[in-house]
Amino acid sequence: MFVDTTLRDAQQSLIATRMRTEDMEPVLDAFDELGFHAMEVWGGATYDSMVRFLDEDPWERLKTVRSKLKRTKIQMLLRGQNLVGYRIYADDVVELFIKKVADYGLDIVRIFDALNDVRNMSKPIEVSKRFGLHVQGAISYTVSPFHTIDYYIDYVEKLIDAGVDSICIKDMAGILTPKIAYELVKLIKKRFGVSVDIHSHCTSGLAPMVYLASLEAGADWFDTALSPFSDGTSQPPYETLHSAFIEYRRMEPMKTGTLRFLVDHFSRLREKYREYDVGRKYPDTMVFIHQIPGGMYSNLVRQMAEQGMMDKLEDVLKEVPRVRKDLGYPPLVTPISQIVGVQALLNVLHGRYRIVTNELKRYVKGLYGKPPVKLDPEFVDMILEGEKPVDVRPADLLSPELREAKRRGGMLVEREEDLLTFVILGKVGEPFLRRKYEKNLRIDFEYVDDMMKFTGDVPVYPI
Ligand code: CO
Repeated sequence: MFVDTTLRDAQQSLIATRMRTEDMEPVLDAFDELGFHAMEVWGGATYDSMVRFLDEDPWERLKTVRSKLKRTKIQMLLRGQNLVGYRIYADDVVELFIKKVADYGLDIVRIFDALNDVRNMSKPIEVSKRFGLHVQGAISYTVSPFHTIDYYIDYVEKLIDAGVDSICIKDMAGILTPKIAYELVKLIKKRFGVSVDIHSHCTSGLAPMVYLASLEAGADWFDTALSPFSDGTSQPPYETLHSAFIEYRRMEPMKTGTLRFLVDHFSRLREKYREYDVGRKYPDTMVFIHQIPGGMYSNLVRQMAEQGMMDKLEDVLKEVPRVRKDLGYPPLVTPISQIVGVQALLNVLHGRYRIVTNELKRYVKGLYGKPPVKLDPEFVDMILEGEKPVDVRPADLLSPELREAKRRGGMLVEREEDLLTFVILGKVGEPFLRRKYEKNLRIDFEYVDDMMKFTGDVPVYPI
């Protein structure tokens, strides 16, 4: 009944996703003995960080993990039509990406959309079902005057109509409270009878209470991390929750020998990656106000520290909820969290909306999907300078992308996996592929330079 997140969300929330495959490989057999329902091992930040910082092929990691996990299901987190990237991709990219993960032996795909706009999830859901994956539809949980229990139940109904097999309540910022969790789980179980997974973060300190309340309401799966990578902005500790939950439900006893080995291993890793460690020593209750998820918070602090702007941090944290309100209360999750964070920073530095990012313009135009609450027409006018927003499924505005990318990528993208990295990560993917082929094939790169004119990682929309 537990889903382990150590290799995905936990290391993302605590050590900026720097864990290497070589850190994981020696302990995968041991993980497999613990009897988790699933292990989440892959997602957008994993993919990006491996390509950008670790110089590792994300697909190789998936292969390694699959070969070692014999009884545990493998799960990934997919950003709906944004896949593992930062923009909406055309349907042909979605098709190829999901076909590939299915080929690699993935079992469960957890799909969310940052705006809870089902139109951004319908294609990935349909394709995943077609390739035989278990599809878990995730609620991106947020709090606003608009996000009531009724809203979430409506949304779950839409997800189920779109074909999902189970539901995840994904509380990326750790702001879900026990009573709401209880009511939500209870209603979802009663109305739809599907399995429910609870995903929260310990940021505010509420997560273990939320998990217990959800257990009592009948939730099926609980996302936890091994203790050395738990707590802080990460998930609650598996060992702790197991000790509590075994009094409520029949489950396998804890394998203490195996656990001791794993805990030793991951304590050493926590030490090894100390320079990236932003773990807090006590709960951050400000999160109820700014709602910034762990991953976004650590990035924001890092960026501001690098630019010597830490004295402005409080102002930026206060500006984040104001920008969020202007944008119709979107949940703060990738890629929307970054758009809100950067705009809040610009507003503090230069005055409110004196400088507006292109991403914010695209958001207001409707190119990321439908904001949860209708935007104030005056605000829309100010940002779009008279242009009109669109009201269609964003991917419907895109023509197929793969053919053109293949032409531009030439010999770098002959493998489909590489083509996907090239399309999804653009400017970040290209140098990675060059390095990779330089090592393996010793290609003459002046020739390739000539062939490759592809530079944009966020191509301009054809409208
Ligand atoms: Co999370």
